[in-house]
Amino acid sequence: MTEETPQILDVAVIGAGPGGYTAAIRAAQLGLRTACIDDWTTTDGQPAPGGTCTNVGCIPSKALLQSSEYFDHAAHGLGEHGVVCAPPTLDLGRMMARKDAVVRQTNDGIRYLFRKNKIEFLAGRATLRRRTDAPAGPGDCVVEVAVEPGGRVLRARNVILATGSSPRPLPGIAFDERRILSNRGALALDAVPQRLGIIGAGVIGLELGSVWRRLGAQVTVLEALPQFLGIADEQIAREALKAFRKQGLDVRLGVQIGAVEAGDAGVSVAYRGGDGDAMLACDRLVVAIGRVPNSGGWGADAVGLTIDARGFVAVDEDCRTNLAGVWAIGDLVRGPMLAHKAEDEGVAVAERIAGKAGHADLARIPSVVYTDPEIAWVGQTEAQLRAAGRAVRVGTFPFSANGRARAAGNAVGLVKILADETTDEILGVHILGAGASELIAEAVTAMAFRASSEDLARTCHAHPTRSEALREAALAVDRRALNF
Ligand code: FAD
Ligand code: NAI
Repeated sequence: MTEETPQILDVAVIGAGPGGYTAAIRAAQLGLRTACIDDWTTTDGQPAPGGTCTNVGCIPSKALLQSSEYFDHAAHGLGEHGVVCAPPTLDLGRMMARKDAVVRQTNDGIRYLFRKNKIEFLAGRATLRRRTDAPAGPGDCVVEVAVEPGGRVLRARNVILATGSSPRPLPGIAFDERRILSNRGALALDAVPQRLGIIGAGVIGLELGSVWRRLGAQVTVLEALPQFLGIADEQIAREALKAFRKQGLDVRLGVQIGAVEAGDAGVSVAYRGGDGDAMLACDRLVVAIGRVPNSGGWGADAVGLTIDARGFVAVDEDCRTNLAGVWAIGDLVRGPMLAHKAEDEGVAVAERIAGKAGHADLARIPSVVYTDPEIAWVGQTEAQLRAAGRAVRVGTFPFSANGRARAAGNAVGLVKILADETTDEILGVHILGAGASELIAEAVTAMAFRASSEDLARTCHAHPTRSEALREAALAVDRRALNF
């Protein structure tokens, strides 16, 4: 490594996913001298900032969800509108090329933002080491970057760790991205598998299972827990499962996975379910059983960083690690593994470094599953509130009673609002239905301002829109829904 003695940076950010690149932009906006290092490359070795989210997560999955939804509509959904067309044919190569182009455009956009904000972007792998020639304190962690030629050594008063997460494999079953797929392989298949197996009915299993089912695969999802989508409100999860099964997604709950064998002919998965021992034979198997933080391999131990029992870098509520001047954000630390959570933490940390009162509201982070119907929620579920002894009033409103949803021909689902029985403060909003990912923003804003259900009920909503279902659910909290 070439040791440089440059002007000391204010901030070195490791990782240019949504957490890291957003932190770098905010730091630079606040006048801090900032560098961001990232090691993601395209298959032909080009730097590809944007992390999991841009390269193999949020962006490509949403591109394929959109494309496959068009295909599904053309095949099944248009006839009732009087649009009669020949059964569509699939050009998967073109669909994938479009998805790849959207990803590249996003990589380029992030590089443009680095240039615009005068952030030094270094494409390479960073490791941390401790300066031995200085007393412990801010700036004593040195970031070494493996860039050609010769490497670089950066010294910064603050280091923001944003190294993200990786897919968790089944014990003893490595991802080969040919038969045993992580999200990376499942987003890049070159043919629609006839039989696709998925282990884990979580967010990835449901979203990517939907993509490949729409494109013609027979999809079977094996889930360990007896309850479907345990992180969502029970009533919403129940309705969602009904809708997914009606579409043909074969979801099997409460299974215990046994031996998994992959060969040229396909993959076999032995499992035990409600009906005893069974075997799933499939052409490809997606393993989507959660993700693990990338907390190893870059010097966390060498600098004495505290890692918690689950492998996350331990941080306080302000994302401070145990080392002075070293911060950690995003998938690398506790909390939901979501891009917008990583972004909010990145902004808050940059502001704290600049001496401002940065704030990330972890209690009001929206969650979205981009299936059809979409599932979105913010705040607590009914079961969580009741378990905590909170007295709540519940208002629900079905999209089948919403004019816009009926006109569009997609009226599956409902809005559910939970409000405190005494104060009427909204404590949770849960939506199942088309457009839920956009509708939830109103609920997040309302809850950020600690609105009551009465506040929402008295707010004028344009007609006809799906958002009226939110207002009606708020009215239903007080048993005065108008259209149901
Ligand atoms: P990451 O995005 O993982 O970025 C970390 C970066 O750091 C990577 O580029 C990595 O290569 C780099 N890095 C690691 N170590 C080093 C090192 N030592 N030196 C240099 N660089 C390093 N979230 C949502 O909110 N909405 C969605 O719709 C959504 N869809 C998803 C779909 C899929 C299939 C997957 C897998 C995830 C999805 N997520 C979604 C989750 C989201 O991608 C993550 O929560 C988010 O990317 C976390 O951001 P991050 O900045 O913490 O880390
Ligand atoms: P997940 O945590 O959402 O779901 C994993 C599922 O696998 C759970 O239902 C779990 O019970 C099950 N499971 C675990 N071990 C199992 C086993 N041995 N056998 C069978 N089932 C098992 O994790 P997933 O889907 O891998 O996604 C990882 C993370 O990525 C998500 O938690 C989310 O934070 C993020 N993500 C977010 C998206 C979004 O915001 N729309 C989309 C995709 C991913």
